[in-house]
Amino acid sequence: MIDPALFRTVLGAYPTGVVVITAVDAEGQRRGLVIGSFTSISLDPPLVGFFPDRRSRSWAQIAPIGRFCVNVLGSDQLDVCRRFAARAEDKFADLAHGHTPSGQPLLENAIVWIDCSIERVDEVGDHYLVVGAVEALGRRDVGTPLLFFGGQYHDLAELPA
Ligand SMILES: Cc1cc2nc3c(=O)[nH]c(=O)nc-3n(C[C@H](O)[C@H](O)[C@H](O)COP(=O)(O)O)c2cc1C
Repeated sequence: MIDPALFRTVLGAYPTGVVVITAVDAEGQRRGLVIGSFTSISLDPPLVGFFPDRRSRSWAQIAPIGRFCVNVLGSDQLDVCRRFAARAEDKFADLAHGHTPSGQPLLENAIVWIDCSIERVDEVGDHYLVVGAVEALGRRDVGTPLLFFGGQYHDLAELPA
């Protein structure tokens, strides 16, 4: 039996970036949640993935939409991160944003965006594995990514070569 507290402490020593998964439904309701478990999966075909908690309300609302945008947050977007990590009825209230080619919410100052259709969703333990087929993507070359490590947020510091 693995102790859950030990599991969290050990896995928390692995650093991740921070993304917000966004989508808009047919009624115009915008949804979003913070995800640290995002990763690139395949180049040919181009696939990305992440692991939403099976209890996530936001994911339950995004799944039937059938598509989503990955917004990679910059280190100056801690406020956006906190907003989308909290449970709320309208996480987009008073938040200006653009749109991806497929019409999903594109967060201002996100350093990367990736427009995806949902390729497959599998149940894996207490999470889902979501695989997205990449349809369009872009990099804005503004700022550096927000990092999450050891239960805290970090900025990127370059090491000497
Ligand atoms: C840095 C960070 C990384 C997170 N990574 C994940 C993740 O990979 N999967 C997940 O389900 N929740 C993750 N969360 C938690 C969700 O953002 C949060 O529980 C969720 O948005 C709560 O509301 P919901 O019910 O609207 O989904 C993360 C939160 C933070 C702050």
